[in-house]
Amino acid sequence: MKVFINKRIPQIGIDILKENNLEIITQETEHPTYQEWLENCKKADVLLSVGGKNKYDKAFFDACPDIKAIALFSVGFDQVDIAEATKRKIPIGNTPDVLSRATSDVAFLLMQMVSRKANYNIEKVKSGNWKDFDALEELGQELYGKTLGVFGLGRIGFEMAEKCKAAFGMNIIYHNRSHNEQAEKELDAKYVSFDELTQQSDIISIHANYTPEQADIFNKSVFEKMKKNAIFINTARGGFHNETDLLEALKSGKIWGAGLDVTNPEPMDKTNPLLQLPNVCVLPHIGSATIEARNGMAKLASENIVAFSKDEKMPTIVNPKVYD
Ligand code: DGY
Repeated sequence: MKVFINKRIPQIGIDILKENNLEIITQETEHPTYQEWLENCKKADVLLSVGGKNKYDKAFFDACPDIKAIALFSVGFDQVDIAEATKRKIPIGNTPDVLSRATSDVAFLLMQMVSRKANYNIEKVKSGNWKDFDALEELGQELYGKTLGVFGLGRIGFEMAEKCKAAFGMNIIYHNRSHNEQAEKELDAKYVSFDELTQQSDIISIHANYTPEQADIFNKSVFEKMKKNAIFINTARGGFHNETDLLEALKSGKIWGAGLDVTNPEPMDKTNPLLQLPNVCVLPHIGSATIEARNGMAKLASENIVAFSKDEKMPTIVNPKVYD
């Protein structure tokens, strides 16, 4: 069975595939064109897909009819048309849990960076603009006892809420497709409507799975309802927020600040006006970028492929209906 890996991954993943006698195809060119990438997909039975840019939709599956399974090197699966894959009985694996700590750490980091304008202050030092002590300059806000609103309280959202409660005694509210009983029991988290979430939170952190129906759900009318001291954190997908509306809300002081690990598009252009604002911190999608998380992701993705090659169910499958 031939496995195409489109980008480099930690060795642990390669070793697992080799130990199971799977043939590996790699991308010869560093920045392949769409056609070069597609040619390799056509040669493979299974894809180990790294990075969220390749779309796996009807057109892709029509172009690559021999693809039998895809193991994503990510927890997010928004680049796959799951209904189409399921219709074609193509199992899609993802990498949950192993990156929950790392990703929630980045949300927690961004929240603190923005609350103390750390990003802006670092620039100040670097550019030689650190002047005399001023009791009224660059004041941040403390996070103790504030309300964290989690949009999408799954594994990553739970970790973020747990950290915020332990570190700052924050109250947790959340909006989700369904109730998270563990969070309600262990963190005293309260389920609220989307409107209540946006109106009551001091910090809003997004941890949901992205679907096109949720495009721009954080937009002008939502930013207008948020508290003036609100900090908006997005470590999930850039499509959740409307960037123009966010920029406007930040510039006009409708909200306090924003911390983004994801943008739309990615990478963000270096001339983006958001990068000029003192109350914004942008990171280059590093949520899962730790040695531990990336090794875990490589292991899970390869184990999904090995299971598939043995006619077994993928251990972490997005569309279990393929096995019905
Ligand atoms: C994920 O796992 O979904 C991360 O965002 C990396 O793509």
